Amino acid sequence: MNRSFATLAVAASLVGVACGARPVTYALGAETTPPAELAGADAEVVRNNCTACHSLDYIVTQPRGKGDQFWRDAVNKMITVYKAPVEQPDANKVAEILAKKFG
Ligand code: HEC
Repeated sequence: MNRSFATLAVAASLVGVACGARPVTYALGAETTPPAELAGADAEVVRNNCTACHSLDYIVTQPRGKGDQFWRDAVNKMITVYKAPVEQPDANKVAEILAKKFG
């Protein structure tokens, strides 16, 4: 008796949930505008290799003036730690561009 009452209660609540379910619609925010420093054709290689996992903004909000080695290390970390699929020639180009633009 108790058991069938429990079953009935569960079934009733599931029906309630099902009836209350409605498709969720929501407006997506605007795409983040690419940072001005990386708008040129020079930056295409950065976009192609570095935006699968995070935005360009995330890259360019790093502190300035860290030097070339910082950017080489950053790119290497993406490849070795996070397994970013970046070929070595592209990795070199990206590090060079970022070092040039962001110091
Ligand atoms: C496979 C995914 C992936 C790709 C592709 C990728 N990153 Fe990242 N990156 C991450 C993750 C995950 C973090 C966040 C680490 C954290 O929050 O600690 C990150 C963080 C960063 C940071 C912030 C500093 C840091 O070390 O955490 C920089 C700068 C950065 N990425 C640069 C790049 C550049 C340049 C490229 C292109 C060569 C790139 N990323 C491509 C996954 C990726």
